[in-house]
Amino acid sequence: MTDYPINMSVKPQVEAFFDPATNTISYVVKDPSSNACAVIDSVMDIDYAAGRITYDHADAIIDHIRKHGLKLEWIIETHVHADHLSAAPYIQSALGGKIGIGDKIMVVQDTFGKIFNEGTEFQRDGSQFDALFEDGDTYKIGNMQAVAIYTPGHTPACMVHVMGDAAFVGDTLFMPDGGSARADFPGGDAATLYDSIQKVLALPNEMRLFMCHDYGPNGRDIQWQTTVAAEKEHNIHVGKGATKEQFVNLRTERDATLAMPKLIIPSLQVNMRAGEVPTDKDGRPMLKVPINAL
Ligand SMILES: [Fe+2]
Repeated sequence: MTDYPINMSVKPQVEAFFDPATNTISYVVKDPSSNACAVIDSVMDIDYAAGRITYDHADAIIDHIRKHGLKLEWIIETHVHADHLSAAPYIQSALGGKIGIGDKIMVVQDTFGKIFNEGTEFQRDGSQFDALFEDGDTYKIGNMQAVAIYTPGHTPACMVHVMGDAAFVGDTLFMPDGGSARADFPGGDAATLYDSIQKVLALPNEMRLFMCHDYGPNGRDIQWQTTVAAEKEHNIHVGKGATKEQFVNLRTERDATLAMPKLIIPSLQVNMRAGEVPTDKDGRPMLKVPINAL
């Protein structure tokens, strides 16, 4: 296993922004020793039935960063989300910062470029993003070092980003009583996800873990923060040393019962372009609906 540079003595301040429309949690992470910050997994609001895009969720993040006098250095996507649209370009145009994602985005762009029958003008080389991370790549948020860790399985491009004692796990894990995310999207794989989860569980026990989603299972209030120790002990899919075989059986059975996320069609088209809405031949923002392709 790769030896990732982890420094538990650096304790970033983490502000969470919950989006009730998609059950997504976005984060502003502040370097404790400077005013630098990063945004993780932002959300652009869409009324899909009306084809209307708005920015209330992103504006709340922008307002928070401005109010606290922070300098936005990075806008991180843990993966190409299938259930919400990224607001990365909107936030970048307001505050600057570099948009980063895992370099396996190219695999995702290739898969969905075909499904959406994108023409040659759709680049499948990740060039829509400012930075593409490989496993173990580090970058700086002010003085704080961040490291990106490959965690494929939910999608091929998933990464967990560790900043000091905080890890942003994307859809690699849910809260202990939520288990894990589905692994049945094109390019997903339950056995691969199990291996990736083991990488997260190998982080220090006290590491704070921040979820990308929570659905409040069994009627509990929405939560987004836990620890490696709590996941190891209590996660209903991978806790108490669940084996790969147990996990793959459970995940595969469960995935067969899940409907497609409501926003998968607009989300993929926008998020594989780093949050830009595609345009038609006349330059008007426009989305497609491929029939019987997903
Ligand atoms: Fe996801």
